[in-house]
Amino acid sequence: MKIIVLGSGYVGLVTGVCFADKGHKVYSLDINAEKVKKINSGKSPIFEPGLEELLKKNLENGNFKASLSNDFYFKNISTDISFICVPTPSREDGSIDLKFIEKAAEDLAKYVKKIKDYHVVTVKSTVVPSTTDKTVLSILKKSGKKIGEDFGLCMNPEFLREGSAVGDFLHPDKIVLGSYDDRSASILEKVYESWSKNIPRIKTNLRTAEMIKYAQNSFLATKISFINEIANMCRKMGIDAKQVSYAVGLDNRINPQFLNFGVGFGGSCFPKDVKALIAASEKSGFEPKLLKSVIHVNEKQPLEALKMAENIEGKTVSILGLAFKPNTDDIREAPSIKLIQELKKHNVTIQAYDPQATENMKTLFPDINYTESPLDALKNSDICFVMTEWEEIKNLKPEDFLNSMRNPVIIDGRRAFNPEAKKKAGIDYKAIGYGTYEED
Ligand code: UGA
Repeated sequence: MKIIVLGSGYVGLVTGVCFADKGHKVYSLDINAEKVKKINSGKSPIFEPGLEELLKKNLENGNFKASLSNDFYFKNISTDISFICVPTPSREDGSIDLKFIEKAAEDLAKYVKKIKDYHVVTVKSTVVPSTTDKTVLSILKKSGKKIGEDFGLCMNPEFLREGSAVGDFLHPDKIVLGSYDDRSASILEKVYESWSKNIPRIKTNLRTAEMIKYAQNSFLATKISFINEIANMCRKMGIDAKQVSYAVGLDNRINPQFLNFGVGFGGSCFPKDVKALIAASEKSGFEPKLLKSVIHVNEKQPLEALKMAENIEGKTVSILGLAFKPNTDDIREAPSIKLIQELKKHNVTIQAYDPQATENMKTLFPDINYTESPLDALKNSDICFVMTEWEEIKNLKPEDFLNSMRNPVIIDGRRAFNPEAKKKAGIDYKAIGYGTYEED
């Protein structure tokens, strides 16, 4: 099939490259000329395992091509379906900002007006319920063309995790196919025809598809804030939360995933999506008290790490891990940002290390010391905060801390280490969720 993907960001690029790899002909559009050039030269603008290899392969076999949006629309190339994969940022009050969605819909309205064949517009970006059937549809109708006859409309949310997005796209747990009518649905279904027949296809209306995405992300965020709250209690009560979360996760009704406690969830999705759902719900007349608490707990969680450090005034502090999670260079809403902001109030010298996210962090904090290795970050520091559980960081031995730091104090925000091993070696080890009777 011939497919347009609007937006060559994280979701758009993965979507476009994976569709191309499944044999579709993909036109990946973006408004940023430099990005388009980079993509067409086989370089991925984002760090995502496996993506660059697939990009190169599909550029070579001609299934994938990036274009500047205006250049593409000018050519009047007919296609079967388009996927809107543009960002949906938060406004100051947490509600969703639809300006990029509206612009994409306006471009597609002009496109639909020009082409002769039936075309299905699909929203893949995460949008609050009623965005597709109200906002997007009303803009598309301005083309003068008729929904159902000239064009169709679908909503097809993504459930990609950064760091495993390619695998998630090609082997999903489910495919949610929200559609305006059967004709639109049949085209979207055809796009996913070559995915395994064992993957459940959930056919819904447009609003339900939009809500599934929010409900899912909100539930996962709730699970994290829940276990973080339990972990905070455990530390105060002299209990190791690791055993608690492990045992609780063994109940089939709960499952072990997303029960890792720590400094809180970050990234471009959970914080933004939960806030957007709260705002949309309040607008509809319902106050979601549980979700508000999920955000509240999460915003305070990085500070739990700071609370464990006694007297940081004027000290040299090392931070291991800056990205919001391992295997990504993404620092959006990373708990490390809140920690650094707080530390800066205490006249500390910061030495930070991350295998991928340093360049991004430099744009926010150009004035802290970034190091090339974890050992350089630890050198002569008084306190070490572990903020992201990269394998490289988890593999550090007690000697690495003992030989590099002044009087090693580790504050483990991700339970990257075995407490006993570090304590046995004479390190003052503290961690979120790690309480012991001795501290009573
Ligand atoms: C998340 C969802 O997992 C994807 O399914 C969804 O498609 C995506 O958002 C999105 O909406 O686009 P992602 O933001 O890449 O994916 O990251 P996750 O792996 O879900 O982690 C999110 C945050 O939660 C990270 O900061 C991570 O450290 C934290 N986390 C995760 C915990 O603190 N504990 C856990 O047990 C799991």
